[in-house]
Formats: sequence, structure tokens, C-alpha cells
Amino acid sequence: MGSMGSMGSTGSTAGDSLLLGLDVSTTGVKALLLDARGRMVGMANTPLTLSSPHPLWSEQQPADWWDSAIRSIRAVLAETGTAGGQVIAIGLTGQMHSLVALDEHGAPLRPAILWNDQRTGAECDEIRALLGGRERLIQITGNDALTGFTAPKILWMRHHEPEIYACLRHILLPKDYLRYCLTGDYAMDKADGSGTLLFDLRARDWSAVVLTALDISPDWLPPTYEGPEITGRVSDAAAGVTGLRAGTPVVAGGGDQAAQAVAVGAVRSGVTALTLGTSGVVFGTTGGEPLIEPQGRLHAFCHAVPGRWHLMGVMLSAAGSLQWYRDTLAPDVSFDALLTEAEAAPAGSEGLLFLPYLTGERTPYPDPLARGAWVGLTARHTRAHLTRAVLEGVAFGVRDMLELLRSTGLGEISELRVSGGGARGALWRRILASVLETELVSAPTTEGAAFGAALLAGVGVGVWTDVDAAVAATLASQQDTQERTAPDAADRAVYARLYPQFRALYPALKPTFDALAE
Ligand code: XUL
Repeated sequence: MGSMGSMGSTGSTAGDSLLLGLDVSTTGVKALLLDARGRMVGMANTPLTLSSPHPLWSEQQPADWWDSAIRSIRAVLAETGTAGGQVIAIGLTGQMHSLVALDEHGAPLRPAILWNDQRTGAECDEIRALLGGRERLIQITGNDALTGFTAPKILWMRHHEPEIYACLRHILLPKDYLRYCLTGDYAMDKADGSGTLLFDLRARDWSAVVLTALDISPDWLPPTYEGPEITGRVSDAAAGVTGLRAGTPVVAGGGDQAAQAVAVGAVRSGVTALTLGTSGVVFGTTGGEPLIEPQGRLHAFCHAVPGRWHLMGVMLSAAGSLQWYRDTLAPDVSFDALLTEAEAAPAGSEGLLFLPYLTGERTPYPDPLARGAWVGLTARHTRAHLTRAVLEGVAFGVRDMLELLRSTGLGEISELRVSGGGARGALWRRILASVLETELVSAPTTEGAAFGAALLAGVGVGVWTDVDAAVAATLASQQDTQERTAPDAADRAVYARLYPQFRALYPALKPTFDALAE
């Protein structure tokens, strides 16, 4: 694999008990050490590559995840001077939905088919039909069939690789493959399980109805656990290659979105998380009963917090839109220079709107054929207007997702916590606050899912009594660094007038997008 990157440690660890979070993302495997006060001690990341052997395909080798995990664990232990025995628990997280297909001996049958793979359009239609329609599927699982989810990938293997499918005995998700390598156990957490489209959302476990309808054997699926529950212990073999202590408990953890939410403290209703990475994610928690969006335009999954659920919207090109814009139209200009220039353009970019659907869209329009656009261009517009319109278009797309969240009865947003590279610039934060008509609070940590997984590990071994206590401990140690951005009254009025125009664009352009795709 590629080279290793790491961050220095923030303090001596000699003798301290530490928690390890492991995140198998699409771009790398990260190992992060946390102390018992919820402060990061060190982090190492080993990059991963993606393979796309055919158009629409996206794959990785599970063996590469394990190799990278070993490297990252060894690196973070070495660079922080931590002995394996100081790590008292391990939490796992990673990319959701990606199918890991294993034979009877636990060997991968083929490369993993990833969450961003788009080959399964026909299987999504098949699943809706087998369940008696989209509504019934959404009622049981909380979700419509999307090409990214796990279930359609299993059906794709059945149709296209029957010899391989005949050997299928175990189905896992990426972080659970690492769990298998670490402990020898087949197990999965409920948050990630609910992203397979094979879950009964209310029951927080596999749905017999869905498995029967899709003819998938329940024997292939592992037992599922709540996020902080211990699922197994590090084996002698894994201890030998990683430097961890044999017998160290491994907790269930959660899919990357749920673990990221734990990291930023979005674990109870009201506190909503907004992550502006390449994609943009809004995440709201529900307790007591799961909420669903009746048309399946939001994902409804189990939270990594026991007994809680969440709703989530995903916009595919958030900071990705700005990255594309700069790489394509201003490759020699720094982001800072572009954003400073954009400050000079007024709110609303003098009547210029940008649609951010550069890689199709998921929320609120599950449409791979949706396209990007600037609408309203005149000869008066300068690069400053174009840049500002991109920032505003992404903010309007985020507002679409928040409006949908509100429409489900989730209740008022008491605090909107932002994180991700896109939230670093002050101008974009001001635009977002004014478009969303809500104060933004910067998230207490930017370390993401691996941090959340380490917190879950701490709960699992009693460092904190529950996830709420773990989150409170982290917040208490980071409070001073949280930045607040309020809406600007004048800008907010401009955006309130423009938002209906933005909303009208997708329905108006949809026939054009479809025709262009042909
Ligand atoms: C969530 C999703 C992505 C992947 C990326 O539904 O598809 O966030 O988990 O890692």
C-alpha cells in the first residue's frame, strides 16, 4: 500500500490506559488513540486505493484493509510510545454498505463491492418488486433500494457470478471484516446492519420477511450488537501482527456516519450534525421510536447509541463542488484566494444560482442523472460571482435536506454542529448560517468516525457509563475551541427570497437532464 501519514501525539502516554478507534474508510485505514478523558493522543493513517474495472464499478480488496490496519496500528503505537497492553479496548468503524462476501473458511470470494458502486440499478427494481413495492420495503427497512446499499449487491452476485455465489457463506461489512481478522468472530453492529437493506428497522435486527423475499439465507448473516457491546477479543495471531495485547476487548462500533455523529455529539434529538466533506451529510437522532421519511428520500438507520435511531440526508457533491470548480476553472488559484475574491460578490451573487448535482444526487432527489448548472449567467458576472454561487448552491442543497428532516417530525434543531473541510472557511459558514437561518456551532472534534469508535470502545469497558456520558466528557474538554456563526439578517432575507427559485430548478430541468443522459 502507499505511504503512511500520521499526526504527532498530544501528550505522553506512558502507563495511561488508552482506547483505539479503527476506521476503514474508502481512502485509508485510520488508527486513533484516545485517553480516558476523551482527548486524542495520536493518529496514523495508511492510504487505500480504489479499483474500477468497469464503468460504474468500485471495488477494494479486503486483504488490503487488513494490511493497512496492521500498519496504522503499529504506527500509532510506535509514534506515541504506547505499549500494546495500554490499549484497553478497540472500537471499529468504516465505510457503510460495502459487500464483503466470504466462503466457509472466511476467505474473501471476490473484491468487496463498495458503497459508491453503481452497477445494481436492475437489482434495486427487483428488490422493490420482490417486497411488493417501494412502500412496503420502506415500511420494513426504513429505506428505499439504492444502488449503494448491500442487498442489491448480493443479488447482483447471484445473477452475474453464479459460481462465486454458490460458495457464499458469510456476509460482512468492511469494519466487520477487520473484526474477523482481529478476533476470528463474525459479528456486526446494528447501525451498519441497518444500512444493508436487510434489517427490520424497528426490531433492530435482520428482517425474516426481507430475507425470505430475497431468498438470502439467515445463516450467512452475523449476530448484531449495539455499538458499545463487546463482540470478541483480539486473538493471539492478531496480537502477533499488530502489537496489541491478546484478549483486548473489541466493541461492535458503528458505520462511519453513526460513529462520526458520536464523535461530534449528535446522539440525542435536537442536536443535528452537518458534515461538509466531498459529500454533505445532515444527521438527526430519534429516540423511542424510529422515524422514516415516507418516500425514502432520507435514510433511516439505527444509531450506534443503544435504542436510538437516526435520519440522514446525503448530498453527493458538497465540498466536492468547490473542489471541481477550482480544479477545472481556476487550477492555479488557491482556495483561500478564491474565497477572498468571492467575499466581494453580494449575497445572492446578483441573480446567479448554482445546482450542485455534479455527480448525480441522493437527497432530496435520488437521481443519478441529475446534473450541475449555473442558471442566470449574464455578462456582468465575474469569477467572484461564480465562486460565491457555488458556495450558495451547496448551502441551498443542505437546506433542502434540513427541510426534509424537519418534515418527518424530528422536532426543532436545538444545535447544528458543523464539521468537515468545507466548514473551515468563514465565508462558507456565514453563507450556510444565513441560508439555513440557524446558528452554526463548530463540532467539538474534527477527528471523525475513528474518534467516535474509540468513545464507543470506552463505553464498552466502563470508562464512561453510557454514550451520553462519553460525549459529555469530550465536550467538556473541547468547549473553549467551539466557534459559533450566526445568520446575517440582510443576507438571510436575500436567501429567503432566492430559495424558492432554487427549489424550482430541479423539477424544471429534470426532463432536460434525462434527455441529456440519453
Ligand atoms: C452512507 C454512505 C457513505 C459511506 C462512506 O450512507 O454511503 O457515507 O459510508 O464512507
